[in-house]
Order: sequence, then structure tokens, then C-alpha cells
Amino acid sequence: MNKIIDGKAVAAQVKAQVKSGVEQLAGRGINVGLAVIIVGENPASQVYVRNKKNDCAEVGITSFEYALPESTTQQELLALIEKLNADDSVSGILCQLPLPEHLDEKAVIGAISPEKDVDAFHPQNVGHIMIGDYTFLPCTPAGIMELLSHEGISVSGKNCVVVGRSNIVGKPMAMMLLKADATVTICHSRTKNLAEITSRADVLIVAVGRAKFITADMVKPGAVVIDVGMNRGADGKLCGDVDFDAVYEKVSRITPVPGGVGPMTRAILMKNTLSSKR
Ligand code: GUN
Repeated sequence: MNKIIDGKAVAAQVKAQVKSGVEQLAGRGINVGLAVIIVGENPASQVYVRNKKNDCAEVGITSFEYALPESTTQQELLALIEKLNADDSVSGILCQLPLPEHLDEKAVIGAISPEKDVDAFHPQNVGHIMIGDYTFLPCTPAGIMELLSHEGISVSGKNCVVVGRSNIVGKPMAMMLLKADATVTICHSRTKNLAEITSRADVLIVAVGRAKFITADMVKPGAVVIDVGMNRGADGKLCGDVDFDAVYEKVSRITPVPGGVGPMTRAILMKNTLSSKR
């Protein structure tokens, strides 16, 4: 069996299902649309937004792009969100993060209608995730759960360690693993004896944003390793949070960077946008 989990291939399957769902709705005269807002000129964000637009085109979702200047005020941004909330041709709304410093991220996320919040970042949707009852799941952790299930990897009763406690990945990831009956540990920058904890993980999920942070000595032999990172290594090449070559030798399964979690995140966004219309 190939140790490398092919996120691109699984994402293609998810997108094919979404495409078929979008076509079925179109047959009933219903259009699915995603509004993507980007403020300023963060190059990484621009790449992410372009990718989302391409994904929409691939699955037949109409994309509406709002590329706003860095000088956009909070009031202007909130007015746009209000307009999109009320627009029936817009099924999903996503505001690319991070926002420029002068904008209040929390207020912006809170202004998006929870029914159109395809990122699942609105406090109402976060609350639903806490109690295990939800419409939308945040794209990256949902993509990871889908990858694990597609690969036939059950987390029930297993030691799952999440490194990273962000609202976007670490925290919702932990909730989803818990719902799937895993024993979950969340580690972060202040965790003492990190290697000792990660070395006990049957499933290790890493989302810290530091190139090759997880080294082979921090991983249990035979573990499943999921790498959420997307960094530039010292050699200028894209790499994850896991020292892939060294860790690969030790584990049973591992996601590559690129081509692992990233494509799944994008595919789940399409799935969420479709489900926002149902
Ligand atoms: N920035 C980095 N990841 C994400 C994401 O999943 N959604 C949004 N809105 N912004 C991001």
C-alpha cells in the first residue's frame, strides 16, 4: 500500500460529487453562487482566492469576487456583507483572512449570515460544532476527517494529537475527532514535553505554520501523520510542518505538502457552498 495519502485524488472525487449536485440544482432552475471577499494585496491570499475561483468554475458554481483595496473601511466592508447576505443569488460568503490590521476580523465574521457562512467561522456555527450538531464544518478539519474516512482510518478509541489551537483548524479539529470517539490531546506553543506527547499519537495532526517543525523523533512508529502546514523551506521550496522525508520512513500513512490537506480544504468549501443552497 502507498503510504502517501493522495489528497488531490480524494478532492477530485468530492468535487465530482459537488459538480453533480450543482447540475441537479441547475436542472431545477437553482443557481449556486459563492461570494469571495479579499481586502488588500496579501500575495498568499490572492493565490488562495484565485484557486477558489478556479474550483467554482470546475464544479459549476458561480463565483463573485470582491477584491477591495487595503484602504477599505470597516463600515464599507460590513455594508458589502450586508448586501451579500440579502442577495439570493449568493449562497455562500467567504471573507479571506487575514484582514488588514485596521479591520476587526471578529466583527466581520460575525456579520456574515450564519446560513451563508461556508467557512463555519461564525460563532453560531462554531457553537453548533461544539455540540456536534451542524450545517457547515470548517473546511480544513472537515477535509481531514473526509480524508481519514476515505482511507479507511478509524480514529475511534485512538490517541489523536492535534498540534495547534487556531480557531480555523486546531480547535474544530479536536471537536470533530472527539465526535468520532477519539481520545484527543491539543498541544500548542506553550506545551511542555511536546515530543513526549506527539510520540504517543496514533494519529498526529499538525497545524502550526512552522517549516519541518515535527521531526522523526517526535513521531510514533506506524502513526498516521496529517500535515496542515504550507511553508517555504530554507531551500525556497513549499513544505509542510512535518519533516516529510525523515518522518515518512517511520509512519504508516502521511499526507504530502503540497497535494495532501490543501486540495481537500478547497473541495470541502465547494461542498459547503452546495449545501448552503439546500
Ligand atoms: N485564510 C486561510 N485559510 C482560510 C480559510 O479557510 N478561510 C478564510 N476565509 N480565510 C482563510
